[in-house]
Amino acid sequence: MKLCMIGTGYVGLVSGACFSDLGNSVVCVDIDKNKINQLKQGIIPIYEPGLEEIVKKNIKNKRLSFSFDFDKSIKDSDIIFICVGTPKKNNGNADLTQVYHVAKKLSKLINKYKIIVTKSTVPVTTGDKIQTILSKKNKDNKYSIVSNPEFLREGEAIRDFIYPDRIVIGSNDVKANRIMNNLYAPLISKGAQYFHTSRRAAELIKYSSNAFLATKITFINEIANLCEKIGINIEDISIGMGLDKRIGGRFLRAGPGYGGSCFPKDTKAIISTANFFKTNLSLVKSVVKSNDNRSKLLLLRVYKILNNRIKNKNITFLGVTFKANTDDMRDSSSIKMIPALSKKGAKIKYFDPTGFKNEFSKIKNVKYCNSIKNSLDKADLVIIHTEWNDFKSINFKNFAKNKKFIIYDMRNIYSPSKIKKQGFKYFSVGR
Ligand SMILES: NC(=O)c1ccc[n+]([C@@H]2O[C@H](COP(=O)([O-])OP(=O)(O)OC[C@H]3O[C@@H](n4cnc5c(N)ncnc54)[C@H](O)[C@@H]3O)[C@@H](O)[C@H]2O)c1
Repeated sequence: MKLCMIGTGYVGLVSGACFSDLGNSVVCVDIDKNKINQLKQGIIPIYEPGLEEIVKKNIKNKRLSFSFDFDKSIKDSDIIFICVGTPKKNNGNADLTQVYHVAKKLSKLINKYKIIVTKSTVPVTTGDKIQTILSKKNKDNKYSIVSNPEFLREGEAIRDFIYPDRIVIGSNDVKANRIMNNLYAPLISKGAQYFHTSRRAAELIKYSSNAFLATKITFINEIANLCEKIGINIEDISIGMGLDKRIGGRFLRAGPGYGGSCFPKDTKAIISTANFFKTNLSLVKSVVKSNDNRSKLLLLRVYKILNNRIKNKNITFLGVTFKANTDDMRDSSSIKMIPALSKKGAKIKYFDPTGFKNEFSKIKNVKYCNSIKNSLDKADLVIIHTEWNDFKSINFKNFAKNKKFIIYDMRNIYSPSKIKKQGFKYFSVGR
């Protein structure tokens, strides 16, 4: 099948590359010319394990290409995936400017029957609005509009695409459902559940799933606060709860709070949708509030660890992205913590396996280091912010030559007793 991915970011690039690997002919388009030029040369603009190999392989066998020629790419394709961003507006609503811009462009380019699929996360009824835009210039039998929300996780995106728990297709017509089922047949035959529902339900399934996962994370973070007061190990609670199949152990690990490009914006967007439909999502509202407060709470812990003497303290961040195996900084808690510490006069160094971050380039006294060793030099406090494998077996004794730094392990990577035995003051989350 001939596919066109509009928007070549985390979702468009990963799913485009994987669809081509399944034997489809895929063209990825984007308004970012720099990105497309890089991709044409096989340079991958994002950090995603395994992606480069799949992209290079499929460029070579001519199943995957990159273009900024929207008109030709769209006209030549049978299925068009909208994969553009839907960022958060100040009022919490999803900003659908990019989606509607694409819909307007598409409306002029329907030369034969096409399926238009929204993979971008869009509020319920967006598919209806895209339909209204397309219907102004096209007969109804020339296109179908389908919702196919994407559930991949950055850092595990390839695996998630190839072995998804489920494929959700929201479509109100039989023909489009049949074609989408065919497209996903190779994944269905490997065990993925194919769930066909109405377009509006598919749109809401995505937001409800993210709101639920965000709730799980926030729940365990609040229980971690309680554990700290009582002296119970949160890890025991997570394991003990997770063994119940109704609960499950995933997304039940205490840490700095959820971040990234999806949960923060999607929890706020579902609240906005509910407000529009005059429904009070009080649970999700309190999740958002609790998570917004999370980095403040951890910062207060940092101040306490340093006896409120922050000025001129050398603080090292190991990892600054919102989670491991991604270069994505969107809504990472480090974005709140580092400027707050800098404002109080701390001198901050950070090392991240995905390199320098523009987000901190204008912040006073913040320095990027190109190795763990350099970042730990002269540190008073080391904050393990992200759970990269690179940080899981550091021999801290080798780096603490003349003085022992304090370690604040926000991901509970290390065993408190082992680190304390080495003479370090060690703090973690909920234990
Ligand atoms: N990143 C994730 O883990 C993830 C997972 C599931 C769903 N989603 C959803 O998928 C959507 C895309 O997310 P992402 O992380 O891939 O975003 P992204 O910012 O990485 O990529 C979006 C791309 O769209 C391009 N773009 C913007 N306007 C365009 C236009 N008019 N025409 C063509 N290209 C255009 C941008 O240049 C950019 O390259 C969002 O709605 C997001 O919520 C993301």
